[in-house]
Amino acid sequence: MARLDALARHSDEPVQLTRLYLSAAHKAAAEELAGWMREAGLTVSIDALGTVVGRYESAMPGTPALLLGSHIDTVRDAGRYDGTLGVIAGLVAVEELSKRGETLPFAIEVVAFGDEEGVRFPTTLTASRALAGNFDPMVLEACDADGVSLRNALIAFGCEPTAIARVAKSREAVLAYVEVHIEQGPVLESEGLPVGVVTAINGVRRLAVVVTGEAGHAGTVPMRLRRDALTATAEMALAVERVANSLPDVVATVGRMEVFPCAVNVIPGSVQFTIDVRSPEDSQRDAATEEISRAIRKIAANRRVEVSISTTHEAPATACSTVMINALSRAINHLGFTTRTLPSGAGHDAMAIATLCPIGMLFVRCAGGISHNPRESISLQDADICVRILLDFLRNFKPI
Ligand code: GLV
Ligand code: MN
Ligand code: MN
Repeated sequence: MARLDALARHSDEPVQLTRLYLSAAHKAAAEELAGWMREAGLTVSIDALGTVVGRYESAMPGTPALLLGSHIDTVRDAGRYDGTLGVIAGLVAVEELSKRGETLPFAIEVVAFGDEEGVRFPTTLTASRALAGNFDPMVLEACDADGVSLRNALIAFGCEPTAIARVAKSREAVLAYVEVHIEQGPVLESEGLPVGVVTAINGVRRLAVVVTGEAGHAGTVPMRLRRDALTATAEMALAVERVANSLPDVVATVGRMEVFPCAVNVIPGSVQFTIDVRSPEDSQRDAATEEISRAIRKIAANRRVEVSISTTHEAPATACSTVMINALSRAINHLGFTTRTLPSGAGHDAMAIATLCPIGMLFVRCAGGISHNPRESISLQDADICVRILLDFLRNFKPI
């Protein structure tokens, strides 16, 4: 818990926790984590996408590795457990093995990815996708709000973009991936359970929308002659909500909106906003996206504004491996708890790793189900339980 608190001090903003991919705070957090990994006896490297990798060898060096990890980037004004819990839980479990001089028949690599939240660049899961061998070189040209490209941000972080091809792991080098994560929902708490096992991760599609109207004088242009990009956008955001409400299991969010020129006495000339659509069924998510796009185009036509809609991120719904679900469930039972399986509404690096190897996820109860919020909280007792479960899982894991 002290380490989670220590990582939370690495922030890009003074009064709240915001740690964006490849920022100075990300670099400082990665370095502090690398130091803890070295102290725990792991061999540490930071790969060409900024992922911290700490390897604990098996009795026979060079054997394939079980990957344990999550992400250390955060949303804006974040809590301190989303992502970091999975990295620190993995580190603490391996540290315990290392302290006892215990080696397993496989190596363990604790991995800390840097781009799970997708807040800084219009792309996400960059680092975990690269590890799984799915790096898309186009993302190097993606720019943040200040016009800094991902390529230049990597170089500023100390990474070598030409080495990205070497980040990909071969199937033979990995056994499986396990991610511990706060639940980010209220189910475990409501049932009085400290942990749960994830069955599948909902799919997501993210859209970037640009609405272009006409800027003008707030005092002189009569209402009927305006092409106000913000009032059009307001109607579009309500349409997003209406479509999601009309379809079972679909959630959709307008989370970011930028108004230009953004002045008290100027009619908004353009607005850029994002839409995030999720569902456990890809077909439902796609149907919702289509309907949202149709509604937006209709509103744009009625209001005489132009609109462009583009997809910035797409991840299909991803099932966890039955073998991993069973292995994690057995560890939970060994510790004397009932196994509760549940789907994940949030996205995780595990989705990207699933194309490489079997994935499993252990959810830990969080207070009020709150996340993406500084009030995110877990108990010391639950943190302890999750590491004990992870250790039991590791000690009994039979390479698949
Ligand atoms: C990450 O937290 C996501 O699901 O957007
Ligand atoms: Mn997360
Ligand atoms: Mn998150």
